[in-house]
Amino acid sequence: MKASFKLISALLSVLATVGASPSLAPRQSITPLTASQIASYKPYTYFASTAYCTPNTTVNWTCGRMCDANPGFVPQASGGDGSSIQYWFVGYAPAQNTVVVSHQGTDTSQIEADLTDGAAVLGPLDSTLFPGVPSSVLAHQGFAAEQAKTATTILDAVQKSMSAHGATTVHVVGHSLGAALALLDGVYLPLHLPSGTTVTVVGYGEPRVGNSAFANWVDGHIAVTRINNREDYIPIMPGQSAGYSHPSGEVHIQDSGVWVSCPGQENPSTQCTDGDVPTTAQGNRTDHSGPYDGIVMGC
Ligand SMILES: *[C@@H]1O[C@H](CO)[C@@H](O)[C@H](O)[C@H]1NC(C)=O
Ligand SMILES: *[C@@H]1O[C@H](CO)[C@@H](O)[C@H](O)[C@H]1NC(C)=O
Ligand SMILES: *[C@@H]1O[C@H](CO)[C@@H](O)[C@H](O)[C@H]1NC(C)=O
Repeated sequence: MKASFKLISALLSVLATVGASPSLAPRQSITPLTASQIASYKPYTYFASTAYCTPNTTVNWTCGRMCDANPGFVPQASGGDGSSIQYWFVGYAPAQNTVVVSHQGTDTSQIEADLTDGAAVLGPLDSTLFPGVPSSVLAHQGFAAEQAKTATTILDAVQKSMSAHGATTVHVVGHSLGAALALLDGVYLPLHLPSGTTVTVVGYGEPRVGNSAFANWVDGHIAVTRINNREDYIPIMPGQSAGYSHPSGEVHIQDSGVWVSCPGQENPSTQCTDGDVPTTAQGNRTDHSGPYDGIVMGC
């Protein structure tokens, strides 16, 4: 009796969520990515990994194998100290004709500490940095404070790089904490860039960043791909029970190495992270750093 009541109320809340979210298309099927689709992410995987290199080497693109993987990149600005501010860089990628912003991540135990319920307080976004975003849109306050530290410096570098190269697209990338910062930059940048600008976020091992109003805002305004590796459990943190929700755009790397796209914001299929890794105990901390198509995150 109690169980069936629970089941019915769970079903009702799913229906309510779907009904309240016009941006959610009817459930589409889970499909494997083609080899060329997977390959199209590779430059961005390297860019996300490159953010672990020190700014004095990304500023002139002399960071070694990570920089060499994206030859011809034109750096605009780099910064961060790797402790109070994660490393970051901005520049222009001629092969993709896009400006790239990348944020460094952190190790699994540090990101976990940021994501435990006590540390995962949701709050509204700063109205000066995020003009026009409704106050119902809530984000992790620690991530928002981190993003605020570099926001205007990165915006300035993006504007300079866009005008120097006539670019109209921006890709914001990152791994782990860097993916959370990338998603917040993805919300922030279009509010200050010319209206024709396309901003795309590619996040690796991305934790949840905000509430469902945040996820719906993201779905309505920017393109996001969040790539989750095997049994990485960081993407299930903080819990949905703490009021968090992912936006759409999950790509889940199966144990077999096949990449599948998981439609919807929180796809419960066992081919997707929510179904495959229902609890952190069922996860594997090694999977957080990769490999993502052969690339393990780090300089
Ligand atoms: C790159 O920049 C750093 C710091 O400005 C400098 O020490 C280094 O010599 C530069 N490397 C090259 C190859 O220009
Ligand atoms: C770059 O900075 C790091 C510390 O952040 C330092 O250890 C290293 O020697 C510097 N490298 C260059 C080429 O200046
Ligand atoms: C975790 O994943 C790594 C790499 O995929 C693997 O070598 C290891 O055996 C896994 N650990 C467990 C407990 O499954």
